[in-house]
Amino acid sequence: MHTTVLIVAAGSGSRLQAGVPKALAALGDGRTMLEHCLESVAAAQSTGALQLNAVAVVVPARPESAAALEQVCRTVGDRTGLMVCCVPGGAERADSVRAGLAAVRALAGAATPGDRHAVLVHDAARPFVPPTVFHAVVTALREGAAAVVPAVAVVDTIKTVATTATDAAPGTEQVTGTLGRAGLRAVQTPQGFDLAALEAAHRRAEREGPADAAALTDDAMAMEAAGHSVAVVPGDPLGFKITTRLDLMLADALLDPSTA
Ligand code: C5P
Repeated sequence: MHTTVLIVAAGSGSRLQAGVPKALAALGDGRTMLEHCLESVAAAQSTGALQLNAVAVVVPARPESAAALEQVCRTVGDRTGLMVCCVPGGAERADSVRAGLAAVRALAGAATPGDRHAVLVHDAARPFVPPTVFHAVVTALREGAAAVVPAVAVVDTIKTVATTATDAAPGTEQVTGTLGRAGLRAVQTPQGFDLAALEAAHRRAEREGPADAAALTDDAMAMEAAGHSVAVVPGDPLGFKITTRLDLMLADALLDPSTA
């Protein structure tokens, strides 16, 4: 199986307020989020959890940010032996994935004819995913799944709400229902796909909606809409996504030798 990892790292990180694109934010050891993410891919490769052909990283279109992230890719590529290439991303995550898929297709062109092409779509904002998760995703793909997501149980009670605007309380939210927690999962990345199936699913999603690319918050959604079943494998608490300052504090604590 010819496997490429596609890391989307083109987000602005506005919720993190780091003053730089999120993937360039420095964690507690001074290294960027993207560097840690690439290192986790290299670790999975070196333990044999992955037999990887290449890594494509989608970076912001702004030249200064792109140049800084490309430098990170070169540094980690030189140190680990990973073949890493960079492509510019788009306005929404789904746009960035689509830009990355074109690069992955070009890289797959160099593969042995007849080989199956798989792609693992991964968020740079999840820098600590352990090799076991990469291994579980790749194993499910090898066993024939067209789409695989790592997932963890949900700890909060999840309710649906609607906004009711009355004269007394404009815009107040009211609970409309409670989802059964036992049947819910929080889904992480890397998500694994048959490359051709994911390309077709994204083309379909672009053609038929949701019209708003922001509504496509992961890639499995596009596969579900195209009628594919999506396999679930165990995720890991370390696969958490860094979105807020609080997440950054957790990341820094994990890297602090005195709290280890
Ligand atoms: O915004 P969110 O936290 O869901 O982003 C998840 C991942 O998608 C991040 O790694 C981010 O860099 C990436 N992204 C992207 N292009 C965008 C928006 C987000 O590559 N336009």
